[in-house]
Amino acid sequence: DKGGWSSFMAKEIAEQPDAIANTLRGRIVEGAVEIPELGSLGPDILKDIDRIVIIACGTAAYAASTAKYAIEAWARVPVDVELSHEFRYRTPVLSARTLLISVSQSGETMDTLMAVKYARDAGVKTLSVCNTQSATIPRESDGVIYTHAGPEVAVASTKAFVAQIVALYLFGLHLGTVRGTLSTEGLHDMTRQLLALPEKLAEVLEVTDTVRQLAHWMADTRSVLFLGRHVGYPIALEGALKLKEISYIHAEGFAAGELKHGPIALIEPGQPVFVVVPSPRSSAELHSKIVSNIQEIRARGARVIAIAEKGDAAVLPFADEVIPVPLAEPLIQPLLSVVPLQLFALELSTAKGLDVDQPRNLAKSVTVE
Ligand code: M6R
Repeated sequence: DKGGWSSFMAKEIAEQPDAIANTLRGRIVEGAVEIPELGSLGPDILKDIDRIVIIACGTAAYAASTAKYAIEAWARVPVDVELSHEFRYRTPVLSARTLLISVSQSGETMDTLMAVKYARDAGVKTLSVCNTQSATIPRESDGVIYTHAGPEVAVASTKAFVAQIVALYLFGLHLGTVRGTLSTEGLHDMTRQLLALPEKLAEVLEVTDTVRQLAHWMADTRSVLFLGRHVGYPIALEGALKLKEISYIHAEGFAAGELKHGPIALIEPGQPVFVVVPSPRSSAELHSKIVSNIQEIRARGARVIAIAEKGDAAVLPFADEVIPVPLAEPLIQPLLSVVPLQLFALELSTAKGLDVDQPRNLAKSVTVE
């Protein structure tokens, strides 16, 4: 039931504040993180791991790439993110001290399931991040963190993406606590930020009308580029994936630092480029680098649409459009800046008269290798 919405995707984007409140529910107790479903993955095991490999496909892999920054910062364990099908068909170096985390909305993606079984057979501990109760992948894993985002029907994943990052953040905070790498102050600060997230997600949804107008103007666009740095980089990749999936427009995401290494050759007058701008308060260095990237592409005629923190005056002179996101800590910002990109894909697909929920050639759950 679409509950009055024009599509399941529109409904699921709008549900994100509630979905995230559900992901967090009962898991932050007096400022600390509690995840009882970790099963046999108790503190003794978690203290001893020396590496994390996260495997996933599509949007779930971008959620993993976003969370890598936080898990490494809090738990001081190296995190590698790999596509399940690439991981499975090489000879990955694994040890009993590796923790393999799979991320899957459906819990049925065959590529990810096969990779989990492969790791398990190699004696590796496995944790699943999953949205679907009693799906196959969690059943094949040592522990599970359910995202509790509610059923996701639209082929294009939205609320599950944000919920996956939040679930991985909760795990990262737990791991940092168990390993003693995260201060109590740092933990309390992050849990406070996470608890404030549903409200900020509700606030960012207010850009819907602005994004709709933009999408209408851009209905004939043939190609859109997305740039980001640090945690904004996987968000740029996710923005591009959303657009190609449901609008059938050529879309590419790049790390902004790569521009000069090739992609800037694509910039010609009128080329639309979305830029995910990090908060100026968080890292002045990252922020000023992005501003100079914007200047570089603007000088070559790009049409710049900046997703930037509310009140970020530095981007105004150089951007054609600024879509504001609420103030948030750097690691929280990607959870907000992805929302305008989801809305843009939805609105552009709608403007083109396409089937938003059932794009051509795609299935919600890919149960063959
Ligand atoms: O169910 P899963 O999370 O394992 O699915 C993984 C991908 O197939 C999925 O995220 C796909 O990329 C989506 N259609 C993206 O919107």
